[in-house]
Amino acid sequence: VVHPLLLCGGSGTRLWPLSRKSYPKQFAQLTGAQSLFQSSAIRLAGDAFAAPMVVTGTDFRFIVKEQLADVGHSPQAIIIEPEGRNTAPAILAGALMLDAITPGALMLVAPSDHVIPDAKRFSDVVQAAVPAAIDGQLVTFGIRPDRPETGYGWLELTSTPSGDFDPITQPLKAFVEKPDLATAEAMLHDGQHLWNAGIFLFSTTSLIAAFEAYAPKMLAGVRSAVSNAQSDIGFTRLAEEPWEKLDNESIDYAVMEKADNLSVMPYGGAWSDLGGWDAVWRETGPDEQGVVTNGPAIAIECQNSLLRAEDSKQVLVGIGLDDIIAVAMPDAVLIAHKDRAQDVKNAVAALKAED
Ligand code: GDD
Ligand code: MG
Repeated sequence: VVHPLLLCGGSGTRLWPLSRKSYPKQFAQLTGAQSLFQSSAIRLAGDAFAAPMVVTGTDFRFIVKEQLADVGHSPQAIIIEPEGRNTAPAILAGALMLDAITPGALMLVAPSDHVIPDAKRFSDVVQAAVPAAIDGQLVTFGIRPDRPETGYGWLELTSTPSGDFDPITQPLKAFVEKPDLATAEAMLHDGQHLWNAGIFLFSTTSLIAAFEAYAPKMLAGVRSAVSNAQSDIGFTRLAEEPWEKLDNESIDYAVMEKADNLSVMPYGGAWSDLGGWDAVWRETGPDEQGVVTNGPAIAIECQNSLLRAEDSKQVLVGIGLDDIIAVAMPDAVLIAHKDRAQDVKNAVAALKAED
């Protein structure tokens, strides 16, 4: 079986004001009746998967537990980080804990804030990648790129995948995390690159060996945080002292850019990381006018706009809007041009600086 490790940190500031420090986007019902976190857990359930492990911050431990229970899942472990140190330590902590129970187990790392509508196809593709992981490969999942995205990792292929992305792994030539725009444009046009979905499959043995080779200091620190962890009614609290000394580093920079045992499994189904309101607009089914309304919001003669009212006592009306994002919360309202959706994080930074 494959053990899912759901990453549940990060505050998602680009989806302010719905996503808050105390209630990040993965817990909100952004695109449907379930939160993104719940959809991730459901997607990774079934015979081929063990109960999920979750790595999260202390503030979110009860939300995690409740949201899992709401969809009928109980986790194998909820691991609590004393502080966010990015994905490298979070993933390593999960792998070390799992390896202590089941040496060499297979682990699937999955962000909890992605939209992958075709759960069956996704789970089949994960299963098709299992032999490569058993073989000692660190398996990435590759998405066909459609824009020169600088916020993603890019995967350099050894051979072009079939037109319909048959689920066949291939060795990876290189992993390039967050390139500059010129590099991303070149990679988009050469047809030899895919986006890194941020989902990884490996055996705990291979992952731990990679940290041993490329980040031994982090390995020592996380080992200590895991072996001194405290269990606390259903939660595992990593030890604070070694954790606080860890570098803040993502798995992509710490390991993936350096490792030489990488493979890629192409994934041809729909995938989105909902990295901003423009993506939410795209993923929530705009009508023929390109309009999405949600809650008590009314759009009159609007085009290509997203209008969301999150408080049932408040009405949001848009008239004649074009390319506008409007999100009304009881205590905050965002109005932005759709092309400026990525700048919402700057607003959050400015608000933080004020208080
Ligand atoms: N538990 C925990 N602790 N989770 C974390 C932490 C942390 O300190 N930091 C981030 N995460 C979670 C986020 O909540 C998210 O679900 C996932 O890990 C990825 O982190 P992001 O911060 O969203 O990474 P990114 O989007 O910049 O880049 C990654 O994802 C891209 C695709 O969405 C990389 O893997 C890229 O290569 C990839 O293309
Ligand atoms: Mg992300």
